[in-house]
Amino acid sequence: RLAPLIAPSILSANLARLGDDVERVLAAGADIVHFDVMDNHYVPNLTFGPAICEALRKHGITAPIDVHLMVEPVDALAALFAKAGASYITFHPEATRHIDRSLQAIRDAGCKAGLVFNPATPLDCLKYVMDKVDMVLLMSVNPGFGGQSFIPASLDKLREARALIDAYTASHAGREIRLEIDGGVKVDNIREIAAAGADTFVAGSAIFGATDYAATIAAMRAEIAR
Ligand code: DX5
Ligand code: ZN
Repeated sequence: RLAPLIAPSILSANLARLGDDVERVLAAGADIVHFDVMDNHYVPNLTFGPAICEALRKHGITAPIDVHLMVEPVDALAALFAKAGASYITFHPEATRHIDRSLQAIRDAGCKAGLVFNPATPLDCLKYVMDKVDMVLLMSVNPGFGGQSFIPASLDKLREARALIDAYTASHAGREIRLEIDGGVKVDNIREIAAAGADTFVAGSAIFGATDYAATIAAMRAEIAR
């Protein structure tokens, strides 16, 4: 199993002081920055574009930036985020005409690529593109907003995705595929989420809503290791 990564979602950060808040959460022990991109089309909300990603890089943020595209279509924005300093770029398969092409374009641009599955979206297409996927992101809420409750059926889906990833990586030496979970992750449920197979944990409100980021992240790590 890959080392667990804690990925605070900047959707819940102090957006008026974004650079400073991201620095603070990284200093508090976070591993990667989860960057939620919403377009008021694929999801009913609107957030940040590539200029904000580039601004974080110029501010001196060197940690991996995990760009979660909730946009339709995908390809033009993915290319702009690759230029803006994204590390991972994930998108929802139903938001692009050509899933394989979109994944390949992200990899060709030098980023790690991933697919995001909504709570009721089957994992069907995944098996055809395992060789182009570096991250599988399961939504455990319906995308669009922070602060929602974890949907319990996500645990079985995590087990399903974990089995697919383990079967693939067992026969493909050197390939690493992360299994990320996004939505309603808290200190009190992260242990069962990890046990179900996740290795990368997005948490927005649970971390940025806490007064002590370091204590919250440490508590999450302790639960995962328990
Ligand atoms: C929802 C986003 C999430 C969200 C998670 O569309 O993809 O990343 O910010 O927020 P919490 O952790 O508060 O559920
Ligand atoms: Zn997200």
